[in-house]
Amino acid sequence: MSADAYKEKIDAALETYFHAESFPFAELAEAMRYSLLAGGKRIRPMLVLEFCRVAGGDVDAALPVACAVEMLHTYSLIHDDLPCMDNDDLRRGRPTNHKVYGECTATLAGDCLQAEAFGTILRSSLPAERKAACAEILAGAAGLDGICGGQYMDMAWEGRTLSQDELNDINNRKTSALLIAACQMGVAAAGGSEAMLDCAARYAAAVGLAFQIRDDMLDVLSTEQELGKPIGSDAQEQKNTFMALYGEERCAAMVKKLTAAAKEALNEGFTDTAFLCALADSMAIRRN
Ligand code: IPE
Ligand code: IPE
Ligand code: MG
Ligand code: MG
Ligand code: MG
Repeated sequence: MSADAYKEKIDAALETYFHAESFPFAELAEAMRYSLLAGGKRIRPMLVLEFCRVAGGDVDAALPVACAVEMLHTYSLIHDDLPCMDNDDLRRGRPTNHKVYGECTATLAGDCLQAEAFGTILRSSLPAERKAACAEILAGAAGLDGICGGQYMDMAWEGRTLSQDELNDINNRKTSALLIAACQMGVAAAGGSEAMLDCAARYAAAVGLAFQIRDDMLDVLSTEQELGKPIGSDAQEQKNTFMALYGEERCAAMVKKLTAAAKEALNEGFTDTAFLCALADSMAIRRN
């Protein structure tokens, strides 16, 4: 399947969640849909579906898992933008959730998307042991060793000069962990082997680091219109970024090297890797 076809499938599935009419508190569901359906790149759900396919699974059966990872990712973006965190006003080309719905509703919309992500996996029609495996992988990527831990370090260490290891540690948790989880959940939804899970993790770890380096580059080099989020936000918040530590040239070289390593890693566990190689390449040169 092409990236566009995957994105269409994912967008159509996401559209079916959290219709507000049936709730007495319609605004919360509306706030969740506002961010969820704002049109992200859908990289994580795409990785779920493609890893499911290359691991020999049924892509349609994995669709709820793909939606779940996008729900969890969207929660992390809503909270990341809050005034107490990165304090940003623009996301996915729209005013951020708290700008439209207020901080309280935005916080709850994030909380609720996180809970519903796990519910969506556990209510899917996958075999029980595969659902459990997917939920466990997602929990690992969301908690202390994942987004929450990474976001905490990102905040706590603002304004302090970090070593390369410390910077990598932040980014492995806040960004790579969820990308690794997406790839591994695809394999788990297919009932794939341990060797496949390892291989998926190695690809995603390299892609994940490259992804955050590119994100840090775009915060400096892109335009608000092209990126759909504010430019210069990292410097304003005194963030420890790869751009600040290494500059554009070294960042570009790191992205190139990591992308090659990601593609190389795939060969150890999978055949038919053309889509995943092309996706890694397109992420390395993305403009938004
Ligand atoms: C942004 O993720 C947050 C980071 C981890 C750098 P994406 O760049 O995937 O954002 P969307 O989903 O396309 O909006
Ligand atoms: C955020 O990193 C990673 C998350 C867990 C959301 P950034 O703070 O750099 O992401 P953007 O640039 O706001 O999307
Ligand atoms: Mg942040
Ligand atoms: Mg941010
Ligand atoms: Mg950023």
